[in-house]
Amino acid sequence: MTTVKSPGGPAGRILVVGGYGAVGATVTSTLDAWFPGRAVPGGRDAARARRLGGVGVDVTDPEDLLRVLEVLSDVTAVVLCVEPPDARVARVCLERGVHVVDVGATARLLDDVGALHGVAADAGATAVLSVGLAPGLTNLLAHRAHDAVGGADGIDLTVLLGSGERHGADALRWTVAGLAEPVSVRPLRTELPGHGSRTAHPFPFSDQHTLPRTLGVARVTTRLCLDSRLLTGVLFALRRTGVTRAAARPDVQRRLAALTRRVRVGGDGFVIRADARRGGRHAAYALTGRGQSRVTGLVAAYVTREVVTGRVSAGVHHIEQIPRLAGLPEDLGRHGVTLLRPPGGTAER
Ligand SMILES: NC(=O)c1ccc[n+]([C@@H]2O[C@H](COP(=O)([O-])OP(=O)(O)OC[C@H]3O[C@@H](n4cnc5c(N)ncnc54)[C@H](OP(=O)(O)O)[C@@H]3O)[C@@H](O)[C@H]2O)c1
Repeated sequence: MTTVKSPGGPAGRILVVGGYGAVGATVTSTLDAWFPGRAVPGGRDAARARRLGGVGVDVTDPEDLLRVLEVLSDVTAVVLCVEPPDARVARVCLERGVHVVDVGATARLLDDVGALHGVAADAGATAVLSVGLAPGLTNLLAHRAHDAVGGADGIDLTVLLGSGERHGADALRWTVAGLAEPVSVRPLRTELPGHGSRTAHPFPFSDQHTLPRTLGVARVTTRLCLDSRLLTGVLFALRRTGVTRAAARPDVQRRLAALTRRVRVGGDGFVIRADARRGGRHAAYALTGRGQSRVTGLVAAYVTREVVTGRVSAGVHHIEQIPRLAGLPEDLGRHGVTLLRPPGGTAER
């Protein structure tokens, strides 16, 4: 991937919905540095958005987004840094030829936007999905490991998050909701650089649904642990008791997310690791860094730059389907992200 500072620049403005949240603030500031005056932050708090030079917008109401696109009139791309309830806002954008970059992490929603491929292609618009840390960089590592073994039979993805990071409310709500989902694979013990040998627990990151299709791999598993061994143990012990099933309810999600935000144990470092296997062959890649919200925002900004400068074809793509973005892990080196080839394999618990 090239690293031109502002390769021509976009023709119009870029609306960053959720543009002052934990992820969105990095997207807005990074795009603003590359394309001064072109990034417009949006959110439901219209007064706050306006103070930042942005607009009030609510993604639960596609008509509201349409109104904003009509008022701003020169928006060429919308970066979704908050999860809408369904694919209607993506449709509103793509039908008008407005590109979409979506940091969303819910498999059902990603599938629904994926179904708009024909709509996007007909309108000459591009949508990029699986943008962020997980999904996002996990997809890119999985692709590398898959290639390294000559086409994997199975891929195991492991994510370690810092329990001391001030994660955004929407990301916490999503994580809490994930605890309510049923699991079908076992925990895995694996070496995570900087954190030693750790047990990671099954967790429904969307990659386990998308990568079998995009890479043609029969089995993809996704697991999570926190940097704090204690919190990881407590959280997944609670899941075994069935208590966390209540987290399927939105009110419980909000309350648990608010409670989790008050917990301050551990740091803000993250690790992601992809292990691919084919027969006796094994390849592993890992990335380490600090601030998963910041790095998710950086990934979204880099992807958006490729899209608005016309370097990605029309249609809906997941990040690993865009060859120009394969070098993103190396590009993020200047932001403190390190790519590693971790030793050692993995073992089911
Ligand atoms: N792919 C990945 O690796 C990855 C990693 C982290 C997060 N994420 C996803 O990124 C999203 C944002 O996470 P975050 O940590 O940045 O959360 P956050 O700090 O809560 O930010 C959400 C932002 O969206 C705005 N917002 C909330 N509801 C909205 C609505 N209905 N319409 C318009 N704006 C709305 C909020 O402002 P107002 O309340 O003022 O509207 C806020 O600015 C989540 O969906 C999360 O799952 C993905």
